[in-house]
Amino acid sequence: MSKTKILSLLNQDTFSKNDLVYLLSFYNKDEKQLIFEKSKEIKQQFVGNKIYLRGLIEYSNKCTKDCFYCGIRAHNHKVERYTVSDADVLNCADYAYKNNYASIVIQSGETKDKVFIHKITQLLEQIHQKTKHALKVTLSCGEQSPETYKTWFEAGAHRYLLRLESSVESIYNTIHPNDEKHSYENRIQALKDLQTAGYQVGSGFMIGLPKQSLEDLASDLLFLQDFNIDMVGMGPYVEHIETPMYKQKDFLIPQEDRYHLTLLMYALLRIMMKDVNIASTTALDALNPTGRIEALSVACNVLMPNLTPIIYTSNYHLYNNKPDSLHSDKLVAYIEKHKTLHGNNIAFGEHGNSKHFENRKND
Ligand code: 5AD
Repeated sequence: MSKTKILSLLNQDTFSKNDLVYLLSFYNKDEKQLIFEKSKEIKQQFVGNKIYLRGLIEYSNKCTKDCFYCGIRAHNHKVERYTVSDADVLNCADYAYKNNYASIVIQSGETKDKVFIHKITQLLEQIHQKTKHALKVTLSCGEQSPETYKTWFEAGAHRYLLRLESSVESIYNTIHPNDEKHSYENRIQALKDLQTAGYQVGSGFMIGLPKQSLEDLASDLLFLQDFNIDMVGMGPYVEHIETPMYKQKDFLIPQEDRYHLTLLMYALLRIMMKDVNIASTTALDALNPTGRIEALSVACNVLMPNLTPIIYTSNYHLYNNKPDSLHSDKLVAYIEKHKTLHGNNIAFGEHGNSKHFENRKND
């Protein structure tokens, strides 16, 4: 009975919130395989079996924000703060260039400090000079003014990731302090500003937050569609002991369920949006050692090996059990080991622009 209903729902072109809630309810049941099969088929048809690499540089863990879930929030005084040196950033970019990654991501804590803004501009220029404009660069440096987004775009940033964390305003407000610096409205405005500035725009959510329902997750999926997002980075919420939200750890669904729910979110997103780039996020590996590979086989098409030099990475702990497993120097071995799990190939040397972005621009 449920099988027939699932199959007929999956053949629809659009999904209501109720449809999505119904489909999400199978996250810990065998029927979810039907959804995974459909997602694999659509992935093959619309984005193919290529996995695009994004070498990740965790540029700085200095953060002016105080998000209740995040291990590098300003009020966690137990982290040692760092900023990767210019020389190390350029070395990472050069490594990505020489190893044919074709793309890098510069991610950092949030600050609107003028020195920081200028530094990112300079680094963008230096990276492109050193790597002969061969790399596509994604920034993930938080909420900034439209002018800053424009400056960085002109300096050679092509893509920008800004997670909304939850599209449901009441949840957003319980996981962030209630002040101007953490406003839901400003975050949405920043996403609009990024689209206006011409970026390929990425967003996403945490899955399995305290008191988050399947309705809330269905709203998250619909948000991505309504907003015409090009790239998605969403992953399971993983508790961090040095954060205020840790107190709510007993009100979470089990980690295993969060893991399965995340895979199902990826699959449903692939079925709904078809041509977007979906990253297989690092947080998955914190819950299951083969998590990221599984996600790639089901729906995702982007992998972000970490390029940050090891001397810095122990201080970029956003959540407990954050794995170092896919540090770039282990990438090849990792892929070899898991080759049998999926028919995907790493697309070395390809930029892998979001097809959704290209289609959006052509419309
Ligand atoms: N669990 C999962 N993801 C987290 N992030 C921050 N803290 C956590 C956590 N405890 C994610 C947020 C942020 C990204 C850089 O890391 O979604 O946008």
